Parts: sequence; C-alpha cells; structure tokens
Amino acid sequence: MNVSSEAAAVQTLRWVDGRLELIDQRRLPHEIVYVSCRTAAETAAAIRDMVVRGAPAIGCAAAFGIALEAAAGGNLNTAHAALAASRPTAVNLFWALQRMREAMDAGHPALQEALAIYDEDIAINRAMGGFGAALIADGARIMTHCNAGALATAGHGTALGVIRSARDAGKRISVVANETRPYLQGARLTAWEMVQEKIPVTLVTDNMAGHLMQQGKIDVIVVGADRVAANGDAANKIGTYTLAVLAARHKIPFYIAAPVSTFDLAIPDGSHIPIEERHADEVTGHGGNRWAAHGVEVFNPAFDVTPAELITALITERGIINAPDTARVAQIIGY
Ligand code: MRU
Repeated sequence: MNVSSEAAAVQTLRWVDGRLELIDQRRLPHEIVYVSCRTAAETAAAIRDMVVRGAPAIGCAAAFGIALEAAAGGNLNTAHAALAASRPTAVNLFWALQRMREAMDAGHPALQEALAIYDEDIAINRAMGGFGAALIADGARIMTHCNAGALATAGHGTALGVIRSARDAGKRISVVANETRPYLQGARLTAWEMVQEKIPVTLVTDNMAGHLMQQGKIDVIVVGADRVAANGDAANKIGTYTLAVLAARHKIPFYIAAPVSTFDLAIPDGSHIPIEERHADEVTGHGGNRWAAHGVEVFNPAFDVTPAELITALITERGIINAPDTARVAQIIGY
C-alpha cells in the first residue's frame, strides 16, 4: 500500500457497517491496516494492546465499545468494567464511559452518543487549535513530545492541532519531534503525521532536547496531556516533566493543549494521578530485538506529572489558562 497517497483518507477511528475500525498504530508508519472491533471486549483489548492510543482517541473508542455492546444486547456493566480496566491514566476514557452511561440512562441511543463524542472531539481540537495558534509566532521552531496528533484523537489533534492550525494561519513553523522512548510515538507517529502534511519536521532522540534548547534552537514547546488535575498539574507521556524543567531553565514557553474532557477536577493535584507501568520488554529492546542483559531490573512508567508552576499556559477549547492554578482552572473548566 502506498502510504502517502493513502494518508489523506486515513482516519484514526471509523464506524463501518456496525463495527468500530481502528487504524493499527502499532504498525505505523510501515503500513496502514485497520483492526475491526465487534464487541466491548475487543475494543478494550485494542486499547490495552495499543492499537489505539492517545487520551481523546481512547475515550472515543470506549464510547463506540459501549455502542457495540448495546447493539448486541450484551451486559453493559461488564462492558463498562472491561473498558475501564484497559488503561489507567488518560481520564478521557472514564469521562467517555460516564457520558455514555448518563446518555443511555436518559434514553439516548448509544451509537448516537458515541458519534456525537467523535464529532465533538474534532470540533474541540479545531477550537483549541485556533486559540493555540495565536500563541505561535511566525517562524517558530516548535518542540513536541509523544504523539498528540490526529492519531491520538478523532482528528486534527491537540498539540499537533495547534501546530496544524498555526500552519493553516500562514505561519512558517517547523517542528522538532522527540522520538519518545520507549514506545517511540514521536518517531513512529508524530514524524509520520508531519511528513504526510508537509510540515517541516526534525526527529531527535529525547536526550538531545536540552542541547537544542541550550543552543537556542527551540522557540516554544507544545505537548498534550492525559489528565490535568484541578490545580493544573498535568500528566503526559514520560519525559514531558524533563522538558518542562529544561524549558524553565531556558525561558522557553511551555504549553499543554488539552480538551475539557482531559481535566479531572475531582483530584486536587497531580500526586493523585495513577501512572501506568508498562512491560519491561519496551525498555529492554524493541520489535523483538533485545539489547539489555537478561536478569536486569526494569522500571517503565508510561507517564509523568508536570507541576502547574512549570506550565506557561493550558490551551483548551474554552480558551487559554495562563499560569494555571486551582482558581484559574476553575474559572475556565469548572462549569
Ligand atoms: O501511551 P500513549 O501513547 O497513549 O500516550 C499518549 C500521550 O501521552 C499523549 O501525549 C496524550 O494522550 C495526549 S493525546 C492528544
């Protein structure tokens, strides 16, 4: 399959003939293949196994998982439990499950609600992109981490949505994508999205970020989030906190783009965010190629928490939260 010519038609998730189809992100950028889900259990497995990943995309997939189960007349409590257990950190998953439960309790068809969540996600990302683009100067060299792009959402992306919107506004931007060890979302997914869109992108390994900042080669950092606490502390892909510390040292603006569905106002600060720990294989090697000694201890946390004081602003679809703290977050999100 010719990846470039297919790119315009690529959708992260799609509803086809009563099934949920998910682009298999484990196989990008090498091939475009869709995985079909017919039940909530299959959808939960696809989330757990990283067929689909990225906070808003996980939420959308879970909503369709409930719609599949409802259509099949299955046990919705079991479906909710399986989906809720698929991954722990991205709060969008739990937000979507709660929204589906409330909609169905109110008598709304499950599929209609899942499709609404999907459509709204794209509109939200475009709104966020508009607010975020205003923060990006013409000629800006933008560093990003992990993949917060179209692949992590229903479309357009959060952090990459800001970048896309800046480009669409005529700004001559360029992107530095950190490869994002150990799962390589930056190298495999963000670099691919940017190449498809012809947005200039340079791939670097994570440990090059400080050097680039010190050399004056980064003007701004924009990343996504998996869960933002009431005080603005934000969990995102492991390595994000390191970037925020470096950005403060080098006086580089550090922005997090996150929709309202990524905020968890039930927790006062980031210390309450559950951090997923993933398999040792991701650290000891890649793609079946092992490089670390057998018997070595491995620690593989998938996310870290950036304290609000290191975040220049949170970019949401309701507007910008500058220098976030509990009061400023509540002003924009708390209604
Ligand atoms: O483990 P992943 O690939 O699901 O982690 C994704 C991220 O950390 C993204 O940056 C985050 O979900 C924001 S996506 C719009």
